[in-house]
Amino acid sequence: MGKALNGVEAAVAMGPDEPLALSLAEPGACEDRVIVGRAQVESGDWFEGLGPVGLSRLQMLGRLAQGIAHEINTPTQFIGDNTTFLRDSFGESFALIGQLMAHLLEIQGMGGPAGEAAQKALDSMAHSDLDYLGVEIPKAIQQSLDGVGRISNIVSAMKNFSHPSADVQTLTDLHHAINNTILVSQNEWKYSATLGVDFDLNVPRVPCFPSEVSQVVLNLIVNAAHAIGASPTRAATGAYGKITVRTRLHPGEVEISVQDDGPGIPREIQQRIFEPFFTTKPAGKGTGQGLAIVHKIVVEHHGGWILFETAPGRGTTFRIFLPLPRPDSIH
Ligand SMILES: Nc1ncnc2c1ncn2[C@@H]1O[C@H](COP(=O)(O)OP(=O)(O)OP(=O)(O)O)[C@@H](O)[C@H]1O
Ligand SMILES: [Mg+2]
Repeated sequence: MGKALNGVEAAVAMGPDEPLALSLAEPGACEDRVIVGRAQVESGDWFEGLGPVGLSRLQMLGRLAQGIAHEINTPTQFIGDNTTFLRDSFGESFALIGQLMAHLLEIQGMGGPAGEAAQKALDSMAHSDLDYLGVEIPKAIQQSLDGVGRISNIVSAMKNFSHPSADVQTLTDLHHAINNTILVSQNEWKYSATLGVDFDLNVPRVPCFPSEVSQVVLNLIVNAAHAIGASPTRAATGAYGKITVRTRLHPGEVEISVQDDGPGIPREIQQRIFEPFFTTKPAGKGTGQGLAIVHKIVVEHHGGWILFETAPGRGTTFRIFLPLPRPDSIH
């Protein structure tokens, strides 16, 4: 059923009886177009090619992101504080103007030179678009506060996301890590796809290196978005694609999957996609390290495994499995 391909075993699903015959869209409707690849724990020689380079790139990017997040955080905080101050003091100032107008109206009613002066002041106020400003300024301030709130969310997601790798695995809330990753990667997918999550709430906290697992999810989401962006259907219709990030609890392991409805992975390159520096993207768009890093992190660092399902024209799902500690090993 399968053939060894330099550390990656691929199997073509030929029919419903195949144990690895996983259908992409309709469960049970296996077709010979569906390919399942399983990255095994034993890596082939080519895999050594990634060496420490890929991971030091990750660590460097992590530190860089952490530094940038910190630098953005301080000014964002005072922009937020100042804008809140402006919102509150504008409300008070505007209430004061209302009281002032009421007094002027009283004085104007008394007539005489003071009444005339009050009338002039009221005329100037009538010409100053106060009503319009009274509605629009609070709206503008509120929009600024919403924007600052969004920046704060992204910055805190970046800080969490790029938390330097600990030496030991930590019990991690995968859903929190995935949500952060989705937030920091928004710019990569929001122009070509909508992104939904389907989380299994039974998934427990998992011992792992959280920033590495976030990198895995990030690479898979970016690949999905690029694939959708490059799809001929999308080029023809401009239609948005769909990315779904799922989690599932299985006996002894948890699964994180990223599914896209892009063009699929052509058969002739399926066995090469985990190779370091293999890319089909134009220079500047891809370095070909994404899936090699995914493999290194999942298989070598976490003792997990990877499977992908792809059907030309229908999309691709990458599924990664991380082992859970055996119940008898938890104290
Ligand atoms: N979801 C997907 N749909 C279609 N093709 C994919 C998908 N994911 C990966 N590929 C193919 O696998 C190749 C290797 O992916 P990989 O993530 O390793 O590198 P890259 O995305 O090209 O570059 P990098 O991730 O370093 O920026 C891609 O160039 C693309 O051809
Ligand atoms: Mg990639």
